[in-house]
Amino acid sequence: MFNYTNQLTENLEYIEIAPASELPNGERLFVDLGDRPIVLFNIAGQIFAIGDICSHDDGPLGDGMIEDHNVVCPRHGGEFDVRTGQAMQMPAVVDIPAYPVQIRDETIFVGIPKA
Ligand code: FES
Repeated sequence: MFNYTNQLTENLEYIEIAPASELPNGERLFVDLGDRPIVLFNIAGQIFAIGDICSHDDGPLGDGMIEDHNVVCPRHGGEFDVRTGQAMQMPAVVDIPAYPVQIRDETIFVGIPKA
């Protein structure tokens, strides 16, 4: 169960990330929330947050190209849907975490599971 975007709000803690102006369309932002490396993408004005480690062999997903709503792992070409974390293309078969994003007062927040 890695797709936290489906979790009830009461099970999540929303962490302030940055002003929305720091993540313009087409850009990406890297953050570490505790032991969770996360990359945020702004795709056509919508912001998505996923784990920054490929489930296949720990590739740096945040360095990958975006194709539609998929990020392409730069190591072996596995693909993941940034909206859900779902593995979409071999050799990746295991989903990665996807986190819900909220914009409040022009500030980005990411929801992670409560400890
Ligand atoms: S490490 Fe990402 S596809 Fe192999």
